[in-house]
Amino acid sequence: MDIISILEDKKRGRALSREQIAYFVKGAADGSIPDYQLTALLMAIRLNGMDARETADLTMEMAASGHMLDPDVGGVPVDKHSTGGVGDTTTLVLAPLVAACGGKVLKMSGRGLGHTGGTIDKLESIPGMRVELPEEVFVSIVRCVGCAVVGQSPQLAPADKRLYALRDVTATVDSIPLIVSSILSKKFAAGAKAIVLDVKAGSGAIMPTLEASIDLAKAMVDIGSHAGRKIIAVVSGMEEPLGSHVGNALEVKEAIDILSGRAAGPLKRVSLFLGSQMLVASGVAETEEEALAMLNDALNSGAGLQKLKEMITAQGGDCRVCDDVSLLPQAPVLYPVKARQDGYLAHVNGTVLGLAAQRMGAGRISKTDIIDPAVGFVMEKRIGDFVKTGDVVCTLHAASQQNAKETEQRILDALTFANEPAPKARLLYALVKPEGVTELSE
Ligand code: URA
Ligand code: CA
Repeated sequence: MDIISILEDKKRGRALSREQIAYFVKGAADGSIPDYQLTALLMAIRLNGMDARETADLTMEMAASGHMLDPDVGGVPVDKHSTGGVGDTTTLVLAPLVAACGGKVLKMSGRGLGHTGGTIDKLESIPGMRVELPEEVFVSIVRCVGCAVVGQSPQLAPADKRLYALRDVTATVDSIPLIVSSILSKKFAAGAKAIVLDVKAGSGAIMPTLEASIDLAKAMVDIGSHAGRKIIAVVSGMEEPLGSHVGNALEVKEAIDILSGRAAGPLKRVSLFLGSQMLVASGVAETEEEALAMLNDALNSGAGLQKLKEMITAQGGDCRVCDDVSLLPQAPVLYPVKARQDGYLAHVNGTVLGLAAQRMGAGRISKTDIIDPAVGFVMEKRIGDFVKTGDVVCTLHAASQQNAKETEQRILDALTFANEPAPKARLLYALVKPEGVTELSE
């Protein structure tokens, strides 16, 4: 076996054998195959594809490239994964709610990447919060509290770490077999037995069209169910930030506001929908309706907020932020961005908004940058709203007056106004299960 013959086969569009796949995954994990041969192979896979059997083999070999956890959490370990969004804090809302209903949420999350925020960076805005915990501590928190959210352990799926970093800089991210194997290998290695995927569609999503997002969802459900996992994918809209808050501490505040009953809207709706799928996938509830009723009870009784407090305390954080959000880091400058014309908000460029937050200091430009947990902004209008000249469309939480002024134009550039009424953005497009696809229309 050698890498040249593997490259030759994939260049000609031939299916790779399990042995060939195992060979290059091992070479990616242990460093024995150099970057230039791996990138050539990634591009050949991006251009010529992989069939379902190859994708399944690639997923399994990548999962087995490092530690494989099989944790005893006192129930079915359930995970949720989003393909990436802006103002998308569903994890912080649904993990405690699902735990309050008896689910066991074992969540490994990422840091911000490009224009998208990362749950781990958000959690670190809570004073004292630890997101890097030994595997046995993580598992024991899930067992006792019902949920824990930590960073990706470097021992899990190391082949993906190498391949993902190469894909990011060689225009090979947007390949269904590569995305499926990347995401699912990490879920399998972390020991998730039930998996709910939130596949985004719309501007700022990883796949360019709704059809491509549904194809990605189907491919993941197919591979996951053949591997013996309970797996459901939700295809949801990403035409504008899901919540109104963008920025690390601001997004934690919005999640606490929802769990306290002070806030509602699309973030709450999508979080409850994904949470209901998690309860069904892990067998805690029999039907979506039953699951939604349980989650609403946990929300209204305060049991969800109580779980968030327990999780924060178990991970070393100061849970008083849940009763007093002013204990979260606060930016020194509040700056209103005002509309310069009348009109209906017709389109929001989520990528431009995400990049604006990143430039304010909420995300990293280079890998070693230290983020400012306090900065970001609150969108005061959503797609479909009518605004008059001078109305506040967004409130910036900035580190300085100068930074606020620089950001103002970026925010306005992300918004398109129209004279005619614009429809609200779609939230939920489809539910994909092993049995088939159900269209959703919300
Ligand atoms: N997220 C991942 O972890 N991997 C991908 O390939 C795409 C999104
Ligand atoms: Ca978007």
